[in-house]
Amino acid sequence: MKYRVLLVEGNRLMMEQLANVINQTPDFELAAKYQSDSDALGQGGVFKPNLILLDVENRNAPEILADFRRVYPDTSIVCMGDHWQAEVASHLVREGARGYIIKPFTGEYLVKAMQQFAKTGMEVTNRTVSFFSPKGKSGKTTVIANLAMCLANKTGEQIGIIDADLQFGDMAVFFNLKPKSTIVEAVRDVDFLSPISLSGYFTEVNDRVKVLCGTANPSLSDRVEIESFIRVIHMAQSLFRYVLIDVPPGFNPTSIAAAEQSDTVYLVSMINGGFEVQHMRRALEIFEGLDRHEEIVRTIFTRVTPCDIASQKRLEQELGYPVDCIVPNEYQIVSNAADNGRMALDIEPDSQLTRSINKLAAQLTGHKQIRWDQP
Ligand SMILES: Nc1ncnc2c1ncn2[C@@H]1O[C@H](COP(=O)(O)OP(=O)(O)O)[C@@H](O)[C@H]1O
Ligand SMILES: [Mg+2]
Repeated sequence: MKYRVLLVEGNRLMMEQLANVINQTPDFELAAKYQSDSDALGQGGVFKPNLILLDVENRNAPEILADFRRVYPDTSIVCMGDHWQAEVASHLVREGARGYIIKPFTGEYLVKAMQQFAKTGMEVTNRTVSFFSPKGKSGKTTVIANLAMCLANKTGEQIGIIDADLQFGDMAVFFNLKPKSTIVEAVRDVDFLSPISLSGYFTEVNDRVKVLCGTANPSLSDRVEIESFIRVIHMAQSLFRYVLIDVPPGFNPTSIAAAEQSDTVYLVSMINGGFEVQHMRRALEIFEGLDRHEEIVRTIFTRVTPCDIASQKRLEQELGYPVDCIVPNEYQIVSNAADNGRMALDIEPDSQLTRSINKLAAQLTGHKQIRWDQP
């Protein structure tokens, strides 16, 4: 599709620069450019634009957007600012903008942005879920990887995985990925990024599931600044319908920050000869500090034998807290799948493991969510 762009930009130099970029970008053509809103509102219609790029920096963005929506009810409007502001962007998208981009931009950025917005619109109804293990090995990477594929199949939506398990991050290994960039670069560069450019740091598993891989080198893990890590999460929230975060075991700044940005936190513990229930209980106590913790904090036990309702009830009773999901002991399936870079879900669609993951996905998608449909 060819874009006929109406450009509205208050600064003349910036306007000329952006006009050039638009004209030089394949499939984009400048229909008209205006420095003033009132001219654009009064005269722009004769050029029949199908895309408006609207400068909202340092201005009353919602009001300007409303004016343009009134005069151009059937034209996609993408707002432009000087830097990424998650709250402004998501507010404008709720009010009917198709997206929010950072200027000045390159032709490549513009193309990517429009591809992204055309696919899903910009996400404003995100669910962010982090997976935390009270102690060491828990089976959480296995759960997350399979859950991501399951959610993608079930919903057809975009799923982003952030591997923030900085020392033992193995999502790349699990999916057999060769990442060109990792969370370390994303966090380092975040001040210069917007969601569109951040998406380039993710590695594709398929067209719906993407992973921001962990560090290949554990010594880099202390370079991840918490403030910047949180900004990466916020940007990912406007790229993906579901963001799944694999956090390091135990309580540390990274795992706490991820939990605070999540609407659901799963504590994952692997049954391995005792004490799991005690570890889980202690972790639950620590999470009592989190706002609305009873709503947010959920539990999963993996390698449960036998994997049936009775075991689940017994675990709940011992723990004194609901158990959301139990995952069977299926070492063979899990490790075969990982070796082949495939999911247990695909290899054994009828296994109990697949049923557990399906149940978990159903819990996450079952919540009533309002979808802000794009005009
Ligand atoms: N449900 C399961 N049953 C049996 N073994 C499992 C299960 N889930 C994971 N494992 C095995 O446990 C090990 C750790 O799993 P992983 O998902 O990487 O956990 P974590 O991310 O908590 O370290 C892997 O060798 C994996 O094959
Ligand atoms: Mg792991």
